Amino acid sequence: MSGVPFVVVIGPPGVGKSTVAAEVAARLGRRLVDTDALVEEREGRTISDLFVEEGEDYFRAAERRAVLDALREDGVVLALGGGAPMIPDVTAALEGHRVLFLDVGIADAAKRIGFDKSRPLLSVNPRQSWITTMEARRPTYESLADHRVDTAGRDVEAVVAEALTLL
Ligand code: S3P
Repeated sequence: MSGVPFVVVIGPPGVGKSTVAAEVAARLGRRLVDTDALVEEREGRTISDLFVEEGEDYFRAAERRAVLDALREDGVVLALGGGAPMIPDVTAALEGHRVLFLDVGIADAAKRIGFDKSRPLLSVNPRQSWITTMEARRPTYESLADHRVDTAGRDVEAVVAEALTLL
């Protein structure tokens, strides 16, 4: 369907985008689209396997297509992979959409994702990689955001409750 998502959820790995977006979608009776899952479905492989077997550029091209397609889905709650907003066509396409930035610091991100090697970009020196990546991405996340929710030290319920007051 051609239309506009209800909200697009962005933020770094480990912030809980998929979990929060799923809960917001459920509470509002809206459909969830998660672009990491969409890429995996279309490619028939996990993102880790795509990075290993094809490389990051291939993954980003697939991610770009998935996000641009998903941005035409009407009324959905759309969760993007952490790096998607940095893809220039995606950055441009996000302008004009309602964007919710879920923010977090390294301490909480580390607790939540445990740096378990399932995220290819964080498989080497995960703690420092997360910090360096977040520093580089933060200006883009902030400039795209209509709403920012700080998730540090808060559970999913508290984050979802605040998000729902903003949307
Ligand atoms: C990535 C984040 C991942 C996934 C891929 C690349 C990134 O999504 O898209 O591993 O560049 O930060 P999450 O943010 O859901 O972990």
